[in-house]
Parts: sequence; structure tokens; C-alpha cells
Amino acid sequence: MAIAESHAQRAREASARFQISRSYADYHELLEQPDIDAVTIATPTYLHAAMAIEALKSRKHVYLEQPMALNAKEAARIVDTAKSMKRVLMVAQPWRFNRHTQLARALIDRGDTGEIYHARGYWMKRAGIPRIGSWYTQKQFSGGGCLTDLGIHLLDIALYLFKESDVLTVSAQTHTRFGQRNMGEGDIGRSEVDQKKTFDVEDGAVAVIRMKSGRSITLETAWACFHPPDTREFGVELFGAGAGLSLFPLRHLRHTLDGSEVVHYANGKPAHAEDGLHHFVTCALDSKKLQTPPEESLKLRKVLDALYAAAASGKDVRLG
Ligand SMILES: NC(=O)c1ccc[n+]([C@@H]2O[C@H](COP(=O)([O-])OP(=O)(O)OC[C@H]3O[C@@H](n4cnc5c(N)ncnc54)[C@H](O)[C@@H]3O)[C@@H](O)[C@H]2O)c1
Repeated sequence: MAIAESHAQRAREASARFQISRSYADYHELLEQPDIDAVTIATPTYLHAAMAIEALKSRKHVYLEQPMALNAKEAARIVDTAKSMKRVLMVAQPWRFNRHTQLARALIDRGDTGEIYHARGYWMKRAGIPRIGSWYTQKQFSGGGCLTDLGIHLLDIALYLFKESDVLTVSAQTHTRFGQRNMGEGDIGRSEVDQKKTFDVEDGAVAVIRMKSGRSITLETAWACFHPPDTREFGVELFGAGAGLSLFPLRHLRHTLDGSEVVHYANGKPAHAEDGLHHFVTCALDSKKLQTPPEESLKLRKVLDALYAAAASGKDVRLG
């Protein structure tokens, strides 16, 4: 096992914590090691495309943190390289592997909800801006704010449970209300901060997504906002013709002969469930089919680009 980390102190800390014997300040050196088959890339987003493409060209399988790249153009280049090098490329979409998401999908597959026609995803942090003045809060390095950081996961859950990725149009509105006043910071991220840097990403966003099938998705995300403390910050609700599902944790809302009931799923992991990283390793070793094909990851990035275009223009953007 090896680590490539350009910051000496953080390299020492990570090596000690995870008992990693080989450490490189320059990631190219790591990529030159013939006994390394696969890498996880968890660097700031603006480095993802170059690092992933170089790793794939060095014949490494790649597990790439979300968001996969600054924009869909860069993301498509990564996907093309994985294809031409015949390497496994998996983008982190961890919520697909969550046991409650898996149970929700099993209930939908069993026909327990009827057709799901609408999904609502929300992640409204009260104070969760990742380190104001770091790469996270500069668009040129992160690609965007809370819509990129939080919204993409909500969108992924909705599309996974819809079993559909054909988006027709999107509409969005973004807000920047707290970060530029140095308010609403959380404790995500470790790397350097420069308070003089302009905060030019959104710390709030709402979006409406219309699917080709006629289904709809609404997203509400905030890195910072005055969200009521007695309500949940994070969740995905699925509205079906026969029943509803509410995650996380999973609840099944359904009719009974004399009213309605809510079934709570507190425990239980489906037998086939595995986490994302194990899935990546299995796919790389055994040529198994990915549950998160790179083409679907690329589609997520395309929808994200369309959401920013819609927010900038104030108009619906058509994808289909
Ligand atoms: N922090 C989270 O909870 C979280 C969750 C999901 C996804 N992500 C994603 O993971 C990625 C990393 O996020 P983070 O919060 O860990 O960021 P971070 O800034 O805390 O850490 C990034 C690390 O990359 C190192 N680095 C920068 N340039 C390098 C280079 N050229 N070679 C080697 N190392 C280099 C930095 O020194 C730093 O230690 C981002 O794409 C982010 O969106 C983070």
C-alpha cells in the first residue's frame, strides 16, 4: 500500500494512522510503481481529471471521489480514457450502497410502492460550508458549492431508485448568502485556507428536474441556512402511486384497510449489500459489472452542468 500526498505533515499523519509504509510527495512516482494495481483519488476536484487520466494511462484502476471532475467535458475525457485503457473507473456514489437505499430499491422492485412519480431530496446544513477560503469555496477549483457537494448525491439516489437516468429539462436557482460574510462554516476538509480569496460558489440552491418519463425530482441544498432545528437536515422522499418511501432511515408509508401505517426499517442489511470500495475492488479483481457505471456518473455531471447553466440563465435547460 502507498500514499501520495504533497503536504508533508498530512502525509506523515495518514501514513501513521493507516499504517502505510510507502509515501510519495509527487503522485507521479506512485503511478510509476508496477506493483500498484489501483488508486483512490481524493484530492481537490480541480486535480481529478489530470490525475485520473494519468493513473488510467499508467494502467491503474481508479476509484475517484465525487464530484468526478470540474465539468462534464473533463469527466467525458476520464470515461473515454478508462474505456481505451480497459481499466475499471468507479466514481464514489456511496449512497447507492447504503443499506436503506438498497432496501428501498428492493421494495420498489417488489412492487410495494407502485410507480414512483416524484422524488424530493433535501440536504439543508445549518453551518456546513467546508473551510471558507479553501479550494472548496472557489469555483475554479471546486466547480461549484453545495449543489456540487451535496446535490449530486441526492440526485444520484433519486435516479438510482427511479432506475432511470434520462433527464429532459432542469431549472435551478442558486444563492450566495453566508460564505462571503464569513458565516456558516463547518469542519469539512483539511487543506489550506486563504481568507482573502473570493467566495464565489453557491451556499444554497433549489432545483426542479423533469425526466423524459414524466417523473420529477426537486432538490434543496444548503451549506448554510436558518433551517428549523426540530426538522431533519437530510433526506430523500419518494412518492409512489401505491405507497411512499422516506429515507434515511427507511420508512414505508402505506394504506391499510382502516387508514394508513408507517413501517420503520431500523436494521437489516440485504445479504448482497457491500460498500462502495469493496465493490470497486471486487470489480477490478473479478471483472464484475459495476453498480455505478462510469457512463451514469458522467450523466450526473452533465445534469449538474445543466443545473448551473439554468441558474445562470434563469431559464429551463433541455438535456434530452
Ligand atoms: N471531506 C468529505 O467529507 C468529502 C466527502 C465526499 C467527497 N469529498 C471529495 O473528496 C475530495 C477531497 O476532499 P477533502 O475534503 O478530503 O479535501 P482536503 O482539501 O481536505 O484534502 C485534499 C488533500 O489532497 C492533497 N493534495 C493536493 N494536491 C495534491 C497533489 N498534487 N498530490 C498529492 N496530494 C495533493 C492536499 O494536501 C490535501 O491533504 C474532493 O473532491 C471532495 O469533493 C470529500
